[in-house]
Amino acid sequence: MLVQAYNLMAHAFLLFLLFPYIITTNIHACKQTERSSLLSFAFTLSSPPLNWTSIDCCRWKGITCDQDGWVTRLLLPSKGLKGGISPSSLANLTHLTHLNLSHNSLYGSLETQFFLSFNQLEILDLSYNHLSGQLPLSLPSINIRTVDLSSNHFFGAIPSSFFQQASNLTSFNVSNNTFTGYVPSSICLQHSSPFLRLLDFSSNVFSGNLAPGLGKCSKLQIFRAGHNNLSGLFPEDIYNATRLEEIALPLNSLHGAISDKIVNLTNLATLDLFHNHFDGELPLNLGKLSKLKFVTLDFNNLEGALPPSLMNCTNLVELRLESNNLEGDISMLDFSRLSQLTKLDLRKNNFTGTIPKSLYSCRSLKAIGLFGNHLEGQIEVEILSLKFLSFLSLGYNRFTNLTGAMKILMSCKSLHALLLSGSFVGEGMPSDDDMVDFHGFQNLRLLGLSYSNLTGQIPMWLSKLKNLEILFLGFNQITGPIPSWLGNLPRLFYISLPNNRLSGEFPQQLCQLPRLLYEPNIASQADKYEFELPVAGSSVSINSNQQFPQQLLPQQKLYFLPGWIVLSNNNISGYIPAEIGRLQGLRKLALNSNNFSGIIPDQISNLKNLEVLDLSTNHLFGIIPSSLASLNFLKEFNASYNNLEGPIPTGTQVQSFNASAFEGNPKLCGAPLPNKCRPIVDMDVDNKNNKDEGNGHHQLPWFYMFVALGFIVGFWGVYVHINMMKRRLRG
Ligand SMILES: *[C@@H]1O[C@H](CO)[C@@H](O)[C@H](O)[C@H]1NC(C)=O
Ligand SMILES: *[C@@H]1O[C@H](CO)[C@@H](O)[C@H](O)[C@H]1NC(C)=O
Ligand SMILES: *[C@@H]1O[C@H](CO)[C@@H](O)[C@H](O)[C@H]1NC(C)=O
Ligand SMILES: *[C@@H]1O[C@H](CO)[C@@H](O)[C@H](O)[C@H]1NC(C)=O
Ligand SMILES: *[C@@H]1O[C@H](CO)[C@@H](O)[C@H](O)[C@H]1NC(C)=O
Ligand SMILES: *[C@@H]1O[C@H](CO)[C@@H](O)[C@H](O)[C@H]1NC(C)=O
Ligand SMILES: *[C@@H]1O[C@H](CO)[C@@H](O)[C@H](O)[C@H]1NC(C)=O
Ligand SMILES: *[C@@H]1O[C@H](CO)[C@@H](O)[C@H](O)[C@H]1NC(C)=O
Ligand SMILES: *[C@@H]1O[C@H](CO)[C@@H](O)[C@H](O)[C@H]1NC(C)=O
Ligand SMILES: *[C@@H]1O[C@H](CO)[C@@H](O)[C@H](O)[C@H]1NC(C)=O
Ligand SMILES: *[C@@H]1O[C@H](CO)[C@@H](O)[C@H](O)[C@H]1NC(C)=O
Ligand SMILES: *[C@@H]1O[C@H](CO)[C@@H](O)[C@H](O)[C@H]1NC(C)=O
Repeated sequence: MLVQAYNLMAHAFLLFLLFPYIITTNIHACKQTERSSLLSFAFTLSSPPLNWTSIDCCRWKGITCDQDGWVTRLLLPSKGLKGGISPSSLANLTHLTHLNLSHNSLYGSLETQFFLSFNQLEILDLSYNHLSGQLPLSLPSINIRTVDLSSNHFFGAIPSSFFQQASNLTSFNVSNNTFTGYVPSSICLQHSSPFLRLLDFSSNVFSGNLAPGLGKCSKLQIFRAGHNNLSGLFPEDIYNATRLEEIALPLNSLHGAISDKIVNLTNLATLDLFHNHFDGELPLNLGKLSKLKFVTLDFNNLEGALPPSLMNCTNLVELRLESNNLEGDISMLDFSRLSQLTKLDLRKNNFTGTIPKSLYSCRSLKAIGLFGNHLEGQIEVEILSLKFLSFLSLGYNRFTNLTGAMKILMSCKSLHALLLSGSFVGEGMPSDDDMVDFHGFQNLRLLGLSYSNLTGQIPMWLSKLKNLEILFLGFNQITGPIPSWLGNLPRLFYISLPNNRLSGEFPQQLCQLPRLLYEPNIASQADKYEFELPVAGSSVSINSNQQFPQQLLPQQKLYFLPGWIVLSNNNISGYIPAEIGRLQGLRKLALNSNNFSGIIPDQISNLKNLEVLDLSTNHLFGIIPSSLASLNFLKEFNASYNNLEGPIPTGTQVQSFNASAFEGNPKLCGAPLPNKCRPIVDMDVDNKNNKDEGNGHHQLPWFYMFVALGFIVGFWGVYVHINMMKRRLRG
């Protein structure tokens, strides 16, 4: 009895203890209005289900409530949400502080009312969606700290009133949209956003000057406005924003000199002004910025010498100055303290001297670009201490001793790209026997040795480069045959040998090049390799990029390169092998200005990806195969100056090329050439062509007859079979 009473009391006491908890959980339960707002938001999404079914919306996935049951956070990033965002439904969630719907597929625009009632909002992240429209007149709340609207389709100007009340704003990212008008650089004026740390306006269509104002952003660390249409001078007051760690304004049209005042930005780590019109000399004291890591000033009009102080920037990781007018003797510079330097790009300037010995002590170096300067001297064996060196571009300088250089570089295991074209002019192709046995260049993917008037033959040691993909040997004085072992190089897909004195025949083995046997996209998917620096800047010729297809210029990605075989302007004779039809991956075949004879093999029409076919100025005879019409991607075709005859295939794409593609073949006739085909003389050829064309039409009745015959035979067979079965069953 006593025990029972005690038990009862204990229970009551327990209940008493739990009571406040029960009440609290009840209070935590979401408010009905919040629930219906959320449901109406979910309702506008087409997929996937949010599984918001339980009563208490505060327990739903992605939802957080406060003590009073108001929804404070709606966090559904990367949930695969699709559908139109509904401003009116969300607008009732007046207590929201965090809204993160980034990385979904939401569309629609932020109508003015979207922001109107969010007066508690602190974090707004709608990045990576398909939202569009213009921005509302102002940010929703004075508490707002982070706004990320990047990677959407917003457009229009950013209203000047937009930041007016956003006094706690620290981060604002609108990159990768299509905003127009001025960059709102007055954002920090009148203390409107004194805490701003990050501003990203890049990849839009902002234009005009950068107005002064950013200097007032005393906390600003990152300022990006690259890839817009900005012009005018760099505003001087930006040098007052002394907390800046990153200035990135690439791909604009800004001009003027980089001021000495930049030394006030003692925190600066990234200075990226790539592809503008900056001129003048580099600030002498630039090296005082000891935190500098990334200096990217390529493609400007900078002049003068490299400031020696730069060699004090021991944190430097990338120094990129390609395509400026810089000059001076670089052998004097002491690179030895730049132990973090991975990329040094001085291509296309006016530097003189030799390769600085001190450079060989920058042990982190992966890429050296010196192409297109006035450097001289030899490659020293000390270069082998650069264990990570993967990209070396030395072309268009006055370096000497190619054999010595190659014998050294062969040991460089990490080397992927070696671009020497236009240097070592007039020397002999290195071909010592010991180079064959050495098995060097084991990782080399790209070798550029053109425009150097090199003499000798294609050297045997190339046959050991099992990773070679791209070979440039054009515009030399190379003699002898094209070696058949080229066809055994397992990764080779780009062969450029024009303007040499190569003789002999087209080796059939070239028709087995493994990388060219497949469709280009299949071959390329296997290889996502990227060079350390863009190759175009150091391609083959200094003033033209004729050896590289134009659309590939900014690429450093190998897998964008097409399959090429270019043998133009040599003395190659014999037939074009029919086996060439196996090279499905080929996009350019240039055999022009050689001594090829025989017919144009029909099998060329198997090269379905071919874009350029140049057979001009040879001794080819016979007809132009009408099957060439099936080359749907063919953009350039030239068969001029041969002994071809008969009608140009009619009604085909081949006919759409200019007459100049066919001239110099006296026996060739029909459009686009002016001479008409004479029926009697060209009877044979005409008949043959007609047959070819006719096949498609005449096939049809035959096809039906066969089907009908098949049906009859089949039916007969079934009939006989059934009868036999019946007989057997009976018997
Ligand atoms: C909803 O539930 C289904 C099935 O359990 C699940 O596949 C889906 O990912 C859930 N949706 C969300 C947004 O969590
Ligand atoms: C939002 O609130 C208004 C006024 O209280 C109401 O009329 C409207 O239905 C609510 N919208 C939703 C989606 O709950
Ligand atoms: C939004 O969520 C994503 C994914 O969790 C996160 O990476 C991002 O930082 C969030 N945005 C903000 C502004 O916090
Ligand atoms: C700004 O943020 C601070 C805390 O970081 C807060 O105390 C202050 O109230 C905020 N100011 C405004 C205007 O929201
Ligand atoms: C801004 O957002 C983009 C993605 O849209 C991102 O790549 C970029 O790093 C962000 N900017 C900054 C400064 O964080
Ligand atoms: C730019 O935005 C589009 C659309 O949201 C997105 O697909 C793309 O990845 C973004 N690009 C970058 C560099 O972030
Ligand atoms: C930079 O700041 C200094 C000191 O605050 C000020 O005198 C100067 O006018 C500012 N410079 C610019 C260009 O705004
Ligand atoms: C640079 O810093 C110095 C001293 O730190 C200061 O006197 C000068 O005004 C600053 N210049 C600018 C442009 O901010
Ligand atoms: C490099 O830094 C040292 C020590 O800080 C200094 O003495 C020297 O003058 C600087 N060199 C240059 C070229 O600025
Ligand atoms: C290099 O300097 C010469 C004169 O010394 C000048 O003619 C030429 O334009 C300069 N080249 C570059 C790329 O600056
Ligand atoms: C060429 O270079 C090699 C290797 O560095 C060297 O041994 C040789 O003496 C050099 N030849 C000349 C002519 O300088
Ligand atoms: C290569 O030799 C040819 C003919 O001898 C000459 O015209 C051309 O200028 C030379 N090229 C170079 C880069 O020296």
